[in-house]
Amino acid sequence: MSADRGQTVPMRYGQPTTTIALCAAALTIICGCGLAPRPSAAPESPTYKAALLAQGRQIFSTTCTVCHGQNGQGISGPALWGEDSAVSDFPSFSPLETFIQDNMPASNPGSLSPTRAEAVASFVWHHNHP
Ligand code: HEC
Repeated sequence: MSADRGQTVPMRYGQPTTTIALCAAALTIICGCGLAPRPSAAPESPTYKAALLAQGRQIFSTTCTVCHGQNGQGISGPALWGEDSAVSDFPSFSPLETFIQDNMPASNPGSLSPTRAEAVASFVWHHNHP
């Protein structure tokens, strides 16, 4: 089932690393809930970023696409990347993360944990700053 949905998502992050990233994200979700909510690699490391983006992509597809679209093109909510997006107006990553943490999903603001807000904000930010 998730494989079907996966096929509709553009593969943008390099196929060979995708599996590793997904495994890392899954491990983070499974093992990391209580004691170590962040991926174990250092925040600046490529491993950390790949895991965060993979987790963010997954959160986006389950929590955000209903209003923002599978491709971030906007439905009832505004476009989050691409030509019509105003997200690049966010001056840096931190305000975007805070906005998402406090206001999104619009149907249930504040429901994302800080770790999940960081992951999905990274995913959105990455599209605007590839
Ligand atoms: C129920 C519909 C809905 C859902 C679900 C939703 N959003 Fe939104 N989103 C909106 C609406 C409507 C706006 C515009 C109003 C506003 O800025 O507060 C918005 C605005 C935004 C903006 C600001 C866009 C801009 O250009 O200023 C970001 C970023 C964003 N959403 C991210 C997310 C993320 C990430 C998720 C998933 C965790 C999400 N949204 C889920 C409806 C939704």
